[in-house]
Amino acid sequence: MKRILLIVSGGIAAYKALELVRLLTKAGYGVTAVLTKAGAEFVTPLSLQALTGAKVYQDLFSLTDESEMGHIELSRAADLVVVAPATANILAKLAAGLADDLASTLLLATDKPVLVAPAMNVRMWQHPATGANMALLAQRGVLVVPPDEGPMACGEYGPGRLAEPPAIFAAIEAALNDGPLKGRHAIVTSGPTHEPIDPVRYLANRSSGKQGHAIAAALAALGARVTLISGPVNVPDPFGMEIVKVETAREMFAAVQAALPADIAICAAAVADWHVEEAGQKLKKHGTGQPPALKLSENPDILADISKPGAQRPALVVGFAAETEKLEEHASAKRARKGCDWIVANNVGGTGIMGGDENEVLLITGQGTAHWARMGKTALARKLADKIGEFFA
Ligand code: CTP
Repeated sequence: MKRILLIVSGGIAAYKALELVRLLTKAGYGVTAVLTKAGAEFVTPLSLQALTGAKVYQDLFSLTDESEMGHIELSRAADLVVVAPATANILAKLAAGLADDLASTLLLATDKPVLVAPAMNVRMWQHPATGANMALLAQRGVLVVPPDEGPMACGEYGPGRLAEPPAIFAAIEAALNDGPLKGRHAIVTSGPTHEPIDPVRYLANRSSGKQGHAIAAALAALGARVTLISGPVNVPDPFGMEIVKVETAREMFAAVQAALPADIAICAAAVADWHVEEAGQKLKKHGTGQPPALKLSENPDILADISKPGAQRPALVVGFAAETEKLEEHASAKRARKGCDWIVANNVGGTGIMGGDENEVLLITGQGTAHWARMGKTALARKLADKIGEFFA
C-alpha cells in the first residue's frame, strides 16, 4: 500500500482536505494526517482521524508522538508528502527552510517527493514574494497543483482557490504512479502572437492563453516533460515546466524548432497569419488623410511544418481550429490541409469562448468526431491530456 503524509495547513479550503482523504482512502492509499495550528481552526483532528483511520499529528514537542514515531520517521514513512491546502505561509517556510512547527519540520526532514496545492487570497497568490517562493520550489522539484480561478471566500475573484480534490487526487496518483506520459516530451504553443506594425503598435488577436496553458499543466500532471511556448499573455505561468516566451509568429516557430524532438505537439496558440514587412519607424499621419498601406507577408505555419513527415515529427500532433461557421467541415479540412493527427475545433463566433473560461469543442481524430459539451478550460485540458495518455498507453 502506498502511503501519503498529508499536511493540512490553515485556510477556509481546509475542509476540502477531508474530501481528498476520502478519495485517497477509497482508492486504497494509506493516509497519515498532520494538522497545523491554523489548520486546526478550520477542521478538527477528530474528523481527519475518522477519515484516515489513524492518529492525527499536531505537535512537534509532544512526547507521546516522539515515542510513537519521531518526526524524522514520520516524514520518511510516506511515499509522498502532500500539503493541501498549502498557505502562503507554509510555502514561504518551505522555500526558506524554516522549521518552527511539526509541519515545517517534517517538510525539511523528508527525503520523499513533496506535492503542494496552494490556496490563498488572490493578492497573496499574485504577490511577488509568493511567486518567487513558488519558482524556487518548482526549481527544487516540488510538485504543484496550481490553484483554480474563481470567486473566493473573501469576496474577491481570481486565482487562489484550492484546486478541486479530484484534481489534487489525480496529481497525487501521477506523482506516485509515474503517470501515463512519464518520459514523453510535449511541446505546447499558447496565446496570441504580436506582430509589430511599428515600434509602438502591433497586430494581435483575442487569445488569452488560458486553454493552451491549462493543457500544458494537464500534460505535466500526467508526467510529461513540457515545453510551453507562449505568446504575450496575462495568465500566470504554470509550474513544473520549461516556458519560452515569444512575441511574434516567427519567434514562436523558431522556439518550436529549437524544442524538438518531442513525442507530442499541441498547437493551441492563435498564431497571426501575417506580419508587417517593414515595421521600422513609428508611422506618422502626415496630415494627408491617406491611411498607411501595410505590406503583409505570410508567417510560417508552425502546425503544418511540425506535422510534415520526417524523423523529427512528433508521434502525436494536435492542432486547434477556431471557426465561426461550418465548424466540422472547416475543421476537418484544416486537419487534412495541415497534416496533424487530431484537431480540436471550437466555434469562436460571439460565444465568449475566446478569452473566456469555458470551451465547447469537437475533437476530430482519424477515428471520428466527438462533441465535448461546454466545460471549464481546465476540465477540457484534463480530458484532452487523458485522451493523449490513452494514445500512448
Ligand atoms: N497555426 C500555426 N501557425 C500559423 C497559423 C496557425 O501553428 N502560422 C496553428 C494554430 O496554432 C492552430 C491551427 O494552426 O492549431 C489552426 O489555426 P487557424 O488560425 O484556425 O488556421 P489558419 O491556418 O490560420 O486558417 P484560417 O485562418 O484560414 O481559418
